[in-house]
Amino acid sequence: MNITVIGTGYVGLVSGICYAELGHRVVCVDKDRAKVETLQNGGIPIYEPGLQELSVKNSAAGRLRYTVDLREAVEQSEIVIIAVGTPSLPNGEANLSYIDQAAIEIAQAMNGHKIIAVKSTVPVGTNERVGNLIRSRTTERFDSISLPEFLREGSAVQDTMHPDRIVIGADSESAAELLVQLHRPLTEHIVVTDIRSAEMLKYASNAFLATKISFINEIANICEKVGADVTLVAEGMGYDKRIGHAFLKAGIGYGGSCFPKDTRALIQIAGHVDYEFKLLRAVVEVNQDQRMSVIRKLESIFDGELQGKTIAVWGLAFKPNTDDVRESPALEIIQYLIRSGAHVKAYDPIAMRNFRSIYGDNGVMWCDDALEAATGADALCLLTEWDEFVHADLKLLQSILRKPILIDGRNAFKEADLAETSFVYYSIGRPR
Ligand code: UGA
Repeated sequence: MNITVIGTGYVGLVSGICYAELGHRVVCVDKDRAKVETLQNGGIPIYEPGLQELSVKNSAAGRLRYTVDLREAVEQSEIVIIAVGTPSLPNGEANLSYIDQAAIEIAQAMNGHKIIAVKSTVPVGTNERVGNLIRSRTTERFDSISLPEFLREGSAVQDTMHPDRIVIGADSESAAELLVQLHRPLTEHIVVTDIRSAEMLKYASNAFLATKISFINEIANICEKVGADVTLVAEGMGYDKRIGHAFLKAGIGYGGSCFPKDTRALIQIAGHVDYEFKLLRAVVEVNQDQRMSVIRKLESIFDGELQGKTIAVWGLAFKPNTDDVRESPALEIIQYLIRSGAHVKAYDPIAMRNFRSIYGDNGVMWCDDALEAATGADALCLLTEWDEFVHADLKLLQSILRKPILIDGRNAFKEADLAETSFVYYSIGRPR
């Protein structure tokens, strides 16, 4: 099939490259000329394991191209996939201006029947809005599809090539059938729904996963007070098939470009139809508060006085294996430390450049490696569980810190790792 994907963010780029890998002819379109040039030259503007190799391979095979020319791409395609960003507006609603713009430009380029699929995460009713924008500008026929995406950053290629399920929201049987054919090689679990249900399904999935995380974080907070161990509690809970082990890792709360944005958006979507989503409001509030658990531990160690203390921070990305720092808990934690008069020495293997471009320098000392960050610090906070931190030499670490205080915001270390050390060790929801 000939496919155009509009938008080369995480979702668009990974999807486009993976459709090419399946053997289709794909054109990825972006307005950002510099980004397109990087892609044309074999580069990848994001850090995503395995993606660059697939991009280069499929470009060389002639199945994949990158362009800024939306018209030319749409003219050659029978399927057009919109995968542009839907960032949060200040009130939490999704900003649909990039979606609208894409719809208008598609309408102007229509030269025959097309299937127009929206892969961006969008409020219920957006596919209709896209349809109306196109219909009012062209007499060409088209079918609308809602095609929500469930990939995770850091394992995006694996998630796309081996998804748990594909969801296709369609208003026409023939379009649904074509999209089923397109995705059949990936999984047998293809759920075909109406368009509104597919749009809702995406928000409901992210909101549910966020709820699991806030739930286990609250259990962790109670565990700390009653002397229980949340990792054991979660393990035991997870064997119940109705609960499952996934997304029950306690920590400093969820971040990233999806859960924070999508939970806020779903609260707004409910609000628009006069429904107060009380549970989800609580999930968001718990998540916000959980970021401060690291700070509360530091304050209790230093009797509330962080002024003048040197705090090492390991990890700035919102999770490992990504350079993405959007809504990363590290942002607020570092801001708080600096405001409290602490000296912060920070290191992340991949995300440092992105973090600095959002945060600025604002008093943080950026370090070239993990040990440099820890040297001479009064305490070390682990905020992202990168492998290189999890496998750090703890004896060496202990010897270079001014005080052997370790706050493990991700429960990355096990009791056995610490056995022969004298760390004052705090984790989330565990006795030690
Ligand atoms: C999330 C969903 O997992 C994907 O299915 C979805 O497609 C994507 O959003 C999206 O809507 O585009 P992602 O944001 O890449 O994917 O990252 P996750 O792996 O889900 O992690 C999100 C956050 O939750 C991270 O900060 C992570 O550290 C945290 N988390 C995750 C926990 O604190 N505990 C857990 O048990 C799991």
